[in-house]
Amino acid sequence: FSLKNYNSFGIDVKAGKFVSIQDLDDLRNILRKSYASELFILGGGSNMLLTGDLSKTVLHIALKGKKIISETDSEVIIEVAAGENWHQFVLWTLKQNFGGLENLSLIPGNVGTAPIQNIGAYGVELKDNFVSCRAMNIQTLEEETFNLQDCEFEYRNSVFKHRLKGQFIITSVRFKLTKKGHKIHMDYGSIKSELENEGIKEPSIQDISNAVIKIRNSKLPDPKEIGNSGSFFKNPIISKNHFHKLEEKFPEIPSYTVSENEIKVPAGWLIDKAGLKGFRNGDAGVHKNQALVLVNYGEATGSEILSLARMIQEKIKSQFNIELEAEVNII
Ligand code: EPU
Repeated sequence: FSLKNYNSFGIDVKAGKFVSIQDLDDLRNILRKSYASELFILGGGSNMLLTGDLSKTVLHIALKGKKIISETDSEVIIEVAAGENWHQFVLWTLKQNFGGLENLSLIPGNVGTAPIQNIGAYGVELKDNFVSCRAMNIQTLEEETFNLQDCEFEYRNSVFKHRLKGQFIITSVRFKLTKKGHKIHMDYGSIKSELENEGIKEPSIQDISNAVIKIRNSKLPDPKEIGNSGSFFKNPIISKNHFHKLEEKFPEIPSYTVSENEIKVPAGWLIDKAGLKGFRNGDAGVHKNQALVLVNYGEATGSEILSLARMIQEKIKSQFNIELEAEVNII
């Protein structure tokens, strides 16, 4: 079974067996019959690089549905099943005039995988609107609830990526959204200038979503046209000392303060500065508009993309003494 259409990088690897999970009984049945080590859990396939065929059984989480759990005049709590497409869900919330997720428009992937890496963009992270999620324990087959604290969210990280890795399958997520008095976040990046260009002074949540969609479309390749997994690396966090040394050499280096002694620098800027933006080796390349995105122009293998990533890591290490860490899961 080819996984080409199930990973946004469009890598053509095969799986031994492929099972689409439509409800919780399906999930329990297959978990009961298999060893955890024989299974590979697949959500939207938008944050992974497959580097070889999988002998495991692929479980495609296709759980669907959304419902309102409770609401007041000003807020609503919504529960969404893990297999819903993230962006379609965001568009649905905007249609209901529910605010909170507009800055996260157009992020590829599914609802159930969003908490694993605490997806974030344009000044908002998933954790900012997150209430809890339900996840099935692969050993006990019981569903457990994880509230905000339990998830240990950090920048592109959560408990599901480290301590509990591979032990739970997220089945649904609850969000708290606003019905009125929406909080507008437009200080990050070019949202404000985008809105000014359109002559919008007091943006609605729909205006923010439209601006984000426009900016993303201008920089990020559409996985349907050119295979990619969004940002391939995390933005590295370095010490203030290290940053000041770099700043002497490159006064224009962009940065975000993380804490008193730590500064985050954009990996895309580093890769760009190293002269690699638009670099291409066969069908594996560095995107021409956003150097943080590695792309598959058609027939690249996972190993070819991985070699490109390693070459970039070496270059950035030797030029800036910074170790880039992959954000995408390498399988
Ligand atoms: N830059 C360059 N050259 C490039 C790319 C970026 O000079 O080729 C500079 C930009 O000019 C800007 C800075 O680097 O000054 C940051 O660039 P950008 O605003 O495009 O964001 P990013 O830091 O590269 C992060 C997220 C994205 C998210 C955007 C917007 C990570 C790993 N990536 O990218 O998330 O959409 O901010 O919030 O944190 C993803 O995770 O897949 C993703 C796309």
